Amino acid sequence: MKILNAVLGATALAALSLFSASANAQGYPERQITMVVPFSAGGPTDTVTRLVAESMSKDLGQQIIVENVGGAGGTLGAARVANAEPDGYTLLLHHIGMATSATLYRKLPYDTLNAFEYVGLVTEVPMTLLARKDMEATDLKGLIDYAKANQDKVTVANAGIGAASHLCGMLFMSAIETSLVTVPYKGTGPAMTDLLGGQVDIMCDQTTNTTKQIQAGTVKAYAVTSPERLDVLKDLPTVKEAGLPQMEVGIWHGIYAPKGTPKEAIDKLSKALQVALKDPNVAARFVELGTKPSPEADATPEALKAKLEGEIARWKPVIEAAGQYAD
Ligand code: MLT
Repeated sequence: MKILNAVLGATALAALSLFSASANAQGYPERQITMVVPFSAGGPTDTVTRLVAESMSKDLGQQIIVENVGGAGGTLGAARVANAEPDGYTLLLHHIGMATSATLYRKLPYDTLNAFEYVGLVTEVPMTLLARKDMEATDLKGLIDYAKANQDKVTVANAGIGAASHLCGMLFMSAIETSLVTVPYKGTGPAMTDLLGGQVDIMCDQTTNTTKQIQAGTVKAYAVTSPERLDVLKDLPTVKEAGLPQMEVGIWHGIYAPKGTPKEAIDKLSKALQVALKDPNVAARFVELGTKPSPEADATPEALKAKLEGEIARWKPVIEAAGQYAD
């Protein structure tokens, strides 16, 4: 009888706490929200997050502050959110690395498909293959020849295993069948500083971090990973035109919340995301940065979940063939 009472008591408590989470969520949001960027400040994910968060906060009527938790290719920031209170006040804006790290890491501190609720897709950003300004190669063929001839000393910057820049660098190296020296950073914001200073030779990074530099001529650009040329970088050939179609890739971004976040909060966040993606200021900035907002129909939990599942399956064999893992 004592055991039965204890079980009934625990069940009642669980039901009560679910009820009170849901009741609390009805007035959501009642205070400031934190959106975690799993890379350094000043980089491409940070740029996208700050733009979208500012617009979402107008619809939600509460401030969204951005917290940069860089390191381990985005997995430290993802872990921070996976372990946060599931109350709608801690969110994660992450990209394709959420899918690739599920295979790249032998051990992750969270279960990618079961540790999060999904808010929606944000944008898909092309990447650009760059080198320091004084790199002698003037086209992609020249860069490949240079890399093959200097394989032991050519350095490739990335934001750690699991970053978009890591994936793109891996596609480059496997397409040219040459291993180069990789240099990891906590984000491509600081990596770009070193590329500009000539401390590293090559980087493949999102247009949200590179368009301004390419336009200003402070780096050498060889190709863009989208199927079509970009309006803002008309002279830059696509990887297909330049001879490496294997490098075609788009870096999609999504917003997540810890598993168990009440549905009422998720619904409000998805709606605020849809409003932000239609915000003319956000759309105009995205165009300047060589990208565009995701369609409204994709700024939903279902679309992000389907994308993540599909992308884990898509990249698993590619990563396994490259044989690159992290512990
Ligand atoms: C960043 O924000 O620093 C990037 O998204 C890093 C990357 O994934 O390459």
